[in-house]
Amino acid sequence: MKERIDALLAEIRNAAEQLKDEDTAEQFRIAYLSRKGGIAQLFEDLKGVPKEVKPEMGKALNILRQQTQAILDTAVENLRQSQKSSVAGLDVTLPGRAVSRGHKHIVSATIEEISDIFRRMGFSIADGPEIETDYYNFEALNFAADHPARDMQDTFFLSDSHLLRTHTTPVQVRLMEQYKPPIRAIFPGKVYRNEVISARSHVQFHQVDGLFVDKGVTFADLKGTLITFAKMYYGSSLKYRFRPSYFPFTEPSAEMDISCYLCGAKGCRVCKYTGWLEILGCGMVDPNVFSFVDVDPEEYSGYAFGIGIERTAMLRHGLDDIRLLFENDMRVNHQFN
Ligand code: DAH
Repeated sequence: MKERIDALLAEIRNAAEQLKDEDTAEQFRIAYLSRKGGIAQLFEDLKGVPKEVKPEMGKALNILRQQTQAILDTAVENLRQSQKSSVAGLDVTLPGRAVSRGHKHIVSATIEEISDIFRRMGFSIADGPEIETDYYNFEALNFAADHPARDMQDTFFLSDSHLLRTHTTPVQVRLMEQYKPPIRAIFPGKVYRNEVISARSHVQFHQVDGLFVDKGVTFADLKGTLITFAKMYYGSSLKYRFRPSYFPFTEPSAEMDISCYLCGAKGCRVCKYTGWLEILGCGMVDPNVFSFVDVDPEEYSGYAFGIGIERTAMLRHGLDDIRLLFENDMRVNHQFN
């Protein structure tokens, strides 16, 4: 009897592994737990077992019945669970699909990175209007009404007196009107020019201008700050140079070049085979600008600089067409996260 009980338990365990749906579960129940099933049959046969072992065998049979019921209950519950998930169209065993979290646009990221470097050097961040007056955009920056320098910038005029600012430099006038020196700030933002859209120019782009006005500010301070910026942004091993230039609002004026890191200054398409990349314009604030905002040039001096954001981003990431930054082609954008 004992052997038959053990054999039946082994058979039941084996059969339980084959259960795959409600039909096979029902067959299992009938085969082992019904009134005509294998266990009932053994109970029947218990009658012929010798008296001395009967209680022990009866107990073993009861345990076998409980075990079998438990095996069946567990199997049925598992089947229900897996059915539930497939009904909801869910296969919980599939690997998850990553959700794209999005990321900053390369222009925003460039503005933030540049701002961060200047913030660490003690500059605050300032802001100004995109619709400017002729006064702030030109006149107070020492562009005389008939000055040919006005032709340097192709302007979108909104009326005789209002225009879309052509650079972020007018914010320096607004700051000096509002605050007494020392003033140390940068002002990033959008600018507009009436230009033909091409690989090199666009009608709307971004600049960041900077201004530092205090007693005793010199061209050496300007160089120290801008060299520090360039090394932090482009890499500490670069070479640099300042070339004389002209802007109406600075005197003297300069443009800063760094050695072309794309070709190791050997000469390539990006540096136009010169080995140098122009990265910004700068200079000492012209005393004429101070006279518009009531800062005494005998007491104070200052430097200013202007950086083109798109140009910076293109140099840094090796892009050769400014339009790539504004077309929102995800195949481009996703490369810069
Ligand atoms: N405003 C100039 C431009 O749009 C850039 C510039 C040059 C800004 C020299 C400055 C500066 O503040 O000092 O091209």
